[in-house]
Amino acid sequence: MKAIEIRNKYLNYFKRNGHKIIPSAPLIPENDPSVLFNTAGMQPLVPYLLGEKHPEGTRLTDYQKCVRTNDIDEVGDNRHLTYFEMLGNWSLGDYFKEEAIKMSYEFLTKELGIPVEKLSVTCFAGDKDCERDETTAECWKKVGIPEERIYYFGKDDNWWIAGNEGPCGPDTEMFYDTGKPKCSEGCNPSCGCGKYVEIWNNVFMEFYKSKDGKYTKLSQKNVDTGLGLERMTMLLQGKKTPFETELFAPVMEKLEELQKVDSISSRRIVAEHLRSSMMIISDGGRPSNIDRGYVLRRLIRRMIRHINKLQISLEELTNLIELNIEALKEMYPELEINKETIKSVILEEKDKFVKTLEHGEKEFIKEMNKLKEEGKAKLEGKVVFKLYDTYGFPPEVTEDLAKENELEIDKEEFEKLYKEHQELSRQGAEQKFKGGLADQNEQTIAYHTATHLLHQALKTVLGEHVKQSGSNITQERLRFDFTHPQKMTPEEIKQVEDLVNEQIKRDLKVVCEEMTYDEAKASGAIGLFTNKYGEKVKVYTIGNFSKEICGGPHVEHTGDMGIFKIKKEESSSSGIRRIKAVLIK
Ligand code: ALA
Repeated sequence: MKAIEIRNKYLNYFKRNGHKIIPSAPLIPENDPSVLFNTAGMQPLVPYLLGEKHPEGTRLTDYQKCVRTNDIDEVGDNRHLTYFEMLGNWSLGDYFKEEAIKMSYEFLTKELGIPVEKLSVTCFAGDKDCERDETTAECWKKVGIPEERIYYFGKDDNWWIAGNEGPCGPDTEMFYDTGKPKCSEGCNPSCGCGKYVEIWNNVFMEFYKSKDGKYTKLSQKNVDTGLGLERMTMLLQGKKTPFETELFAPVMEKLEELQKVDSISSRRIVAEHLRSSMMIISDGGRPSNIDRGYVLRRLIRRMIRHINKLQISLEELTNLIELNIEALKEMYPELEINKETIKSVILEEKDKFVKTLEHGEKEFIKEMNKLKEEGKAKLEGKVVFKLYDTYGFPPEVTEDLAKENELEIDKEEFEKLYKEHQELSRQGAEQKFKGGLADQNEQTIAYHTATHLLHQALKTVLGEHVKQSGSNITQERLRFDFTHPQKMTPEEIKQVEDLVNEQIKRDLKVVCEEMTYDEAKASGAIGLFTNKYGEKVKVYTIGNFSKEICGGPHVEHTGDMGIFKIKKEESSSSGIRRIKAVLIK
């Protein structure tokens, strides 16, 4: 069975069982900078798990595009992926354990035809926060899983939460027995030897964990499930790795044909990172030096290093992208629609990286010659860090070059410096999201309010696809970056200016209210979220024109802000436009 058939079977099965099919949210969470990418199907649904009404009802199903980046460095083995697709079904205060388990069982055994002998399940063993989940075990017995294949484990295995705070609960996981012999007498689904492969997770979400570690009951009992499509495809096709399925095979085979040096892990890294980068770019991600942009940059650059390792010409990149789009476009039509953007973003990043490598290599040679003159054979950590920080030269490449030249490097010192640097960037990023202005005076405050008016005016004139991707304010001007595929026409610029000036003339009152994330979202407020669920956020409303989540401050009335004028409208990077505007008094 092909991946797309498994996806369709899943959605249709749950549709027949009263679920509404909802679209995958974009990989990049809307208005939530607290996570870089969606990492599970439940993430875009958090407000509804907490009790807000979903417009499509209480039974939902979807496929969700996910990126998990904590194990980028593991990619290249036989199972880790950064991008994957999660199939899920949700009960928002509707059915609970019994019905969820009945459906999971029926889907696996009847729809997918997995023999029941292949299935084992795990349940929550119970602790001070929540009782042992015997109800779930009973439900499994009732549908036909024998007692000896029902296991109990603690929070480490059978409790699910995204991060440290939020809706959570005990889960029950389903495992597929690959038929490998047991690794020991005590071999069981949690042992990780590869005999048992986790295929599906049903979370019974009835708790909320707060920042201080306390659990409270949610207002409703939910079910949140996740089935990894790539893994299921691999198992049903009898393949040993997802790279042998149709999702990766065309690119894997092409790489094998082109390579001059054989390396299966490099081929996997290239195929995986190419797919992941394409999906991120297609959903609006662009390479940069911070946050999600940096993840994308790392993915593309690591892919390029491994194309180099395979000694494949970088000229082949365009063909590889096209081949991959051909292979995946039935599943992800957006790849075909965004084909030109995907190509240009990846190729541009490749050119930058090639230059970086050239510069870095020259510097490396200088440093190496210095060492040799001094009769030393160990590169200092601060040199490796300088190559990284000043020249963007990846430490792994320094390490490779050092090895080739029989030099050692001081990894410990490098890592120490690197950590310090990460900490500074983290603090910088937090600062950026605070929403406050470093230098607050009458003029910058007026620009801040003008930015809200501009944001809403762009949405009104150009469409709802407009999203803020950056903002910078000085005494002299505002700068605003936003997603929009083409240059604005002079008419559109004029319309936006007029609309903003109209609001200024109306002398609208600016009102600040505090509310929870959910209330803010429900009220239709736009803007960047920095606060975690449950915490209060500030919402600024400007008359009936704009409503945005923001830390402030703002003017009290729009009346004496001046005349708004757009000075420049230009491209910032592909798919992102930049406006510079002033207020003339
Ligand atoms: N949210 C659960 C998971 O990601 C289903 O495993």
